[in-house]
Amino acid sequence: MTTEAIGLLFIFLLWISYRLRKVGSREQDLPPGPPTVAIIGNLDIFPTVHPYLKLTEWAKAYGDIYSLKLGPKTVVVVSSPRAVRECIDLRGSTMSGRPYMYGVELIYGDAVDLVLVDYGPTWKALRRTVRDALSGEACMRHLPIQHAEATQLMYDFLENPQNFYTHIYSIVEDIDNDMRLIGDLVKPGGTPPIELIPILRYIPERWAPWKAQAREVRALQRRLYFGLLDLCIDRVDNEKRNGCFIEDVLDHQEEYGLDYEKIAYLIGTLMVAGADTTAVYLRFFVACMATYSDVQARAQQEIDSVIGSSRTPEVDDIDSLPFLKAVINEVHRFRPTAPLAIPHTNTVDERIGNFVIPKDSTILLNVWGIYRHEDYFENPNEFLPDRYMRSEYGTKPGVDTTGLRNDYGFGAGRRICPGMHLANNSIILNVMNFLWAFNFNVPKDSVTGEPIAIDLDNNTLDLTLGPNPYECDIKPRSEAKANMIRARFAAAGSTFALFDNQTTVNETSKSK
Ligand code: HEM
Repeated sequence: MTTEAIGLLFIFLLWISYRLRKVGSREQDLPPGPPTVAIIGNLDIFPTVHPYLKLTEWAKAYGDIYSLKLGPKTVVVVSSPRAVRECIDLRGSTMSGRPYMYGVELIYGDAVDLVLVDYGPTWKALRRTVRDALSGEACMRHLPIQHAEATQLMYDFLENPQNFYTHIYSIVEDIDNDMRLIGDLVKPGGTPPIELIPILRYIPERWAPWKAQAREVRALQRRLYFGLLDLCIDRVDNEKRNGCFIEDVLDHQEEYGLDYEKIAYLIGTLMVAGADTTAVYLRFFVACMATYSDVQARAQQEIDSVIGSSRTPEVDDIDSLPFLKAVINEVHRFRPTAPLAIPHTNTVDERIGNFVIPKDSTILLNVWGIYRHEDYFENPNEFLPDRYMRSEYGTKPGVDTTGLRNDYGFGAGRRICPGMHLANNSIILNVMNFLWAFNFNVPKDSVTGEPIAIDLDNNTLDLTLGPNPYECDIKPRSEAKANMIRARFAAAGSTFALFDNQTTVNETSKSK
């Protein structure tokens, strides 16, 4: 090697080491955060189990807007109502992307999922369709089937109370598998960190089990989603409509600009996004009622005085049940279903106060931390529905509530959950039914007779945060109510009949 070549190599190595030295370190204009290590940044300390707990602890140390470095990538964590407004709610057009995830690319390829697709024309077309289908007004049309489903749940609690945990989430096995497999691949560590070390994508298949797993999920999704769409098309063709929203989408397919594949995936997206979220909320609700029996008794008293015993609850009754409304809000606050929502990304450099957040950062909405912020909430770790009786947003006296919201659990900005109205109706109908019909108590030790507390911290975070299986003693409040539930369940048969076969996949699906 000539002296010149050695000199050039030396300069090149110096340049590489200079560049690498910067990788992982926090840029000057970024919000503060935990100290970084060269190249890996904060990767070594980033929590993978219940990450929202550590992220909330860091928010206390580094502020409502702080940053983390995961190798060259920047993550910004937003942890107070005001910071959400400033960073996301008021910057809808630039803070509404979704970060690239290798697991998503593997499963979906060119196909699109409204939840995961990046901000752009496809997202807009899908979002518009869902907005029309799930607006507050449109949801009124879905009430009959929601009523029937809620009646079925009461009936299942009545006839088989020890299996209440599974009754709350009686969903088709294929959808359950779909969600579990998606969760396995998109959670941290589900695939190697291709986002940080792109060359890892070329690991041969025999050492990369996640590639086969992604193919399996994709095949399952396509069979299921296309099969369900085919069933709907057949029904429309045979003039056997049941009012499901996909019929509307098919009628206006051109206007919405959606092809066959996009509509099929939309069905899948909504099933996956809607099923688990509402179910884990209801499981937390039951656990809270059994644990805080004084709250349960007060909500029941309110229901008894408004609804009485001669009829079952209707969705509009909620307007006359302020304490139950407060309990519903407090369960959302106390155990948020999606404690870190779904990550956003910014499509341009954003200046926020003195900070600059570089384009393509990952923005985490720390819902858990927002609802535990001591400047806003008194005793935030305690279950106290009364906070929502004293103030609309559950905040402590003296807090400026301008621009605050009650629904951080549903996300922020333009990506805020479009299924919120549907979810709220389902939650309202079910919890009114629960408390009208049943008493929930913690179980008793069979030998000592002592009550056994439900551990409200024994939870699992998959796509959502939910309580692990627990026992609960559920008894009808009277025989008269039990008989009314049986009668209502029998009457719901005609509504269910309209939706029969909705979840049976047609083997002749066009997806093949
Ligand atoms: C308790 C029930 C629910 C909770 C807590 C919940 C929560 C969320 C959250 C946190 C997001 C992310 C928002 C963001 O990125 O800022 C989201 C998005 C979404 N949710 Fe929900 N959700 C619930 C029920 C539903 C239901 C019933 C449906 C539909 C049937 C639904 C459909 C969606 C869709 C399609 C998105 C993606 C929106 C987009 O990226 O533009 N969700 N939800």
